[in-house]
Amino acid sequence: MNAIRIDGKAIAEDLRARVARDVALLQAEWNVTPGLAVVLVGKDPASSVYVKTKARQAQAVGFKSQQFLLPGSVGEAELLELIGNLNADKSIDGILVQLPLPEHIDRWRVLEAIHPAKDVDGFHPYNVGRLAAGRPALAPCTPLGVVHLIKSVVSDLSGLDVVVIGRSNIVGKPLALLLGDAGCTVTGAQLQTRNLPGLCREADVVVAAAGCAELVRGDWLKPGAIVIDVGINRTTDSTGAAKLIGDVAFVEASKRASYITPVPGGVGPMTVAYLLANTVNAAVSRRGLSLVKNPEASRPCSCLHQLDRSADLQRAT
Ligand code: GUN
Repeated sequence: MNAIRIDGKAIAEDLRARVARDVALLQAEWNVTPGLAVVLVGKDPASSVYVKTKARQAQAVGFKSQQFLLPGSVGEAELLELIGNLNADKSIDGILVQLPLPEHIDRWRVLEAIHPAKDVDGFHPYNVGRLAAGRPALAPCTPLGVVHLIKSVVSDLSGLDVVVIGRSNIVGKPLALLLGDAGCTVTGAQLQTRNLPGLCREADVVVAAAGCAELVRGDWLKPGAIVIDVGINRTTDSTGAAKLIGDVAFVEASKRASYITPVPGGVGPMTVAYLLANTVNAAVSRRGLSLVKNPEASRPCSCLHQLDRSADLQRAT
């Protein structure tokens, strides 16, 4: 078997085009331009690239896009003050603080300072709790992207056995919740899991998000499995040139899987596309708007995890 590649770049482009259409509608019907603020502390090269990409794509779909590039020495109080100002800024619908933050800053204090209605990363405990309770919420972007990619090759996820390797707050934990909501039987695994290869061999879908280069080998997979690789590991090729590899041994795995995501060009582009989708959702939800005259006829953006217009979320500025 030679697996079909799931083209995350093309699927993300499609999603961005839908977001751009929603932005045009929001502007035409309500004179609203979604605003996204992206905050970077320090000069980590990978984070700098991600932040530039996020800001550029936000602008490309028609958002008001603001970047705040703060020195690595910035104090926590100053960062919290910026977040307070962005919370109060009516033109800003989404606030993203790129992680990781420097050691001297308490990541949780910062994430909890972002108003939940503007928390387009879905990292605030309010949104985490609502997601866990099965309530509409702003959900983290990478897990939303992973579910979208799986749905691009199998229309009904219910009944699928899925192994998620990695239990981070950004990917593994929220992904397990989303997949459970979709009817999957989810096994949350990690590097310490006993007989990880055997567990994977039973799975219809393996999602690798452990941050361990080429962890998942070809013979870990059931023939015909779907493989989603969330890993981004930096290495060099035989000539010494920089190269990205995933958490899956791609060539081996391609011989057993039915569908597989490449690295790069798989999950990565979906994360940014869902950041944009979440921002439109936040802009709509925060104002209690609808993108269509008859909200029953179609959902604002059919690709999105639905939010409701809860009183708490509407209280945001
Ligand atoms: N660092 C790595 N992934 C992410 C993400 O999805 N959001 C933020 N804010 N930081 C990250």
